[in-house]
Amino acid sequence: MASSWSPKSWRGFPIRQVPDYPNAERLAAVEAELAGFPPLVFVGEAQRLRAALGRVAAGDAFLLQGGDCAESFAEFSPNNIRDTFRVLLQMAVVLTFGGGMPVVKVGRLAGQFAKPRSSPTEKQGDVELPSYRGDIVNGIEFDPARRQPDPERLLKAYNQSASTLNLLRAFAQGGFANLEEIHRWTLGFVSKSPQGERFEALADRLDECLRFMRACGLTAEYTPQLRETDFYTSHEALLLGYEESMTRQDTITDDKGWYSTSAHMIWIGDRTRQPDGAHVEYMRGIHNPIGLKCGPSLDPDELIRLIDILNPTDDPGRLTLICRMGSDKVHEKLPPLIRAVEREGRTVVWSCDPMHGNVITSSTGYKTRPFDRILAEVRGFFDVHRGEGTYPGGVHFEMTGQDVTECLGGAQEISESALADRYHTHCDPRLNASQSLELAFLIAEMLKQSREDFSAPKVSIAS
Ligand code: PEP
Ligand code: CO
Repeated sequence: MASSWSPKSWRGFPIRQVPDYPNAERLAAVEAELAGFPPLVFVGEAQRLRAALGRVAAGDAFLLQGGDCAESFAEFSPNNIRDTFRVLLQMAVVLTFGGGMPVVKVGRLAGQFAKPRSSPTEKQGDVELPSYRGDIVNGIEFDPARRQPDPERLLKAYNQSASTLNLLRAFAQGGFANLEEIHRWTLGFVSKSPQGERFEALADRLDECLRFMRACGLTAEYTPQLRETDFYTSHEALLLGYEESMTRQDTITDDKGWYSTSAHMIWIGDRTRQPDGAHVEYMRGIHNPIGLKCGPSLDPDELIRLIDILNPTDDPGRLTLICRMGSDKVHEKLPPLIRAVEREGRTVVWSCDPMHGNVITSSTGYKTRPFDRILAEVRGFFDVHRGEGTYPGGVHFEMTGQDVTECLGGAQEISESALADRYHTHCDPRLNASQSLELAFLIAEMLKQSREDFSAPKVSIAS
């Protein structure tokens, strides 16, 4: 690993998952143009998230990260953004109430466009075309022209990210997130479901608390914590040319470090986490909080090597390990990773992505995820941490505020034949609004239990 880092030093390292752009000159010109555009997020915000994640690492807060598998140009609308934001807020309230601790909210939003693929090409009949790699790279339609990687898409993705972020900031700070408005958060189609009713009951209890606080003189008007919320953005840092263009040196705070300003937090995918590869090289030099996806093939020694590279100073909020083992492997694969991290005395946030290890193909031909397996992986994650005496710090979901039918099961009992009804995802199947809420209630119970275990004084019995 070269010791001198720069935003472009990754270019000298082996790289995976790169699109094959037919016009390299145009790509370079677009990247140069992007480098002159305003940052999407500010360094101070990324630093605030890193500090908040430091509290998660210490067991004093919980991380909720969620949103689209892949944002798309076609599904870009204010209502979609609002609905996803609203469900994340509802989940956060459920978790805050259940767990009795602050919830750090991070969207897979405003930049989650690029997708790693298991194969560089896709074959239909006799025709073989480049795989779809997300709207920031090429089009989803199986058509030779649309599947050609096109640099202009980078500009469109930047612009869509900027508008999305603008709206999210308005929602978070401009009154929408006001806890006194909580009854308005329930979406029409969710309100008639058991989850909707359960949320309304919780909102009633919250109202009662707010009435009491108001009587004590604590109103949303004078207490910003009640009327605003912190909401952060994140995505997989897959397209390093785009990330490089958005990498800026802090000129306002004393930090003087380099930051990705494409999102507050970015993560390394499970397919691009090679310790001597380009993605790890890029990520080691930026000062944002970062994530590392940990799949079942990750060896404990390799994890420690990655931690040495990515967080050599053991900064508590710097590194979130997003574990995605699969419900059938979590009990076997997670403990060795936890033990290695504990043995080496490293500080990380442990988060659970119960989506990416639980994909199956339905008999009707849809890529789907059974709700039961998603829940079983989260439960396994909490159980393993309980056994190891470590803190299960967060969850990472693919979800949407829309009433889609992409994941099987849940209280709505979405069946294999129902998948066809509203299967809209551009990539992986997402939890819909009521499945997301249902999961939040189940996790809140686990969180409550783990908080009691984790904060209980440790008694050692002398022999
Ligand atoms: C994702 O988060 O969309 C993803 C592709 O995950 P992973 O890298 O864990 O497979
Ligand atoms: Co995905």
